[in-house]
Amino acid sequence: MSALKVVNLEKELGVQKSLILKKINFEVNEGEFVSLTGKSGSGKSTLLYVLSTLDWPTRGQVFYGDHDVQSLSSKELHSLRNENIGFVFQFHYLLPELTALENVLMPARKAGILEEKIPFAQNLLELVGLGERMDFLPRELSGGQSQRVSIARSLIMNPKFLFADEPTGSLDSANSKLILDIFKEINQDYQTTIIMVTHDADLAQATDRQIHLVDGTLDSMKF
Ligand SMILES: Nc1ncnc2c1ncn2[C@@H]1O[C@H](COP(=O)(O)OP(=O)(O)OP(=O)(O)O)[C@@H](O)[C@H]1O
Ligand SMILES: [Mg+2]
Repeated sequence: MSALKVVNLEKELGVQKSLILKKINFEVNEGEFVSLTGKSGSGKSTLLYVLSTLDWPTRGQVFYGDHDVQSLSSKELHSLRNENIGFVFQFHYLLPELTALENVLMPARKAGILEEKIPFAQNLLELVGLGERMDFLPRELSGGQSQRVSIARSLIMNPKFLFADEPTGSLDSANSKLILDIFKEINQDYQTTIIMVTHDADLAQATDRQIHLVDGTLDSMKF
């Protein structure tokens, strides 16, 4: 059984109800590292939001295992998001008044398990190369370092799925490579299924599989 599956997925957006995603079908296996590529405006972010339950399909279905997300109760959806899904965005959205360690622990604090997650948060910060900077505030970190804190934060609840929307979009090539290496390590060590939007052909090449969007449809040549 696939870990994630979309069936005849369509998404309309805006007052004009423009059809942004058109009859999309694909499956992602557990532990796969997939990149989502395509030109600006092709629908990558829209697809990522629908896949990750941050937004809803207009038509069609998104399945996690054999559960259609639209059939879940709000409580089930809440626990799917909190316990199984991690997000990394292009900009890190760290809380400026909290240290790197406190930012990483934020999802654990919300879940009421702050104390027990402290050693894991420290391990994650070491994994992303910030073992020496756990007590730094975001303003004392570079863009690449801040992004690495946000990656550590996305992993604190041990999500089965990690969704990243251009996580290296604001970084230079050395930092992009570092983030890719971290994702590969997470993918291998924790069997996390990763879906990463990227413009960068080199990064996309380095993933297990590319899903390429052209004007809201899957490009069957690459798929
Ligand atoms: N809220 C909205 N209302 C109307 N149209 C929208 C809305 N959000 C996005 N779109 C349109 O949907 C299309 C796909 O947008 P999306 O953000 O998914 O593209 P993208 O592939 O992520 O592009 P980029 O690489 O620039 O981030 C674009 O044509 C955009 O104008
Ligand atoms: Mg986008």
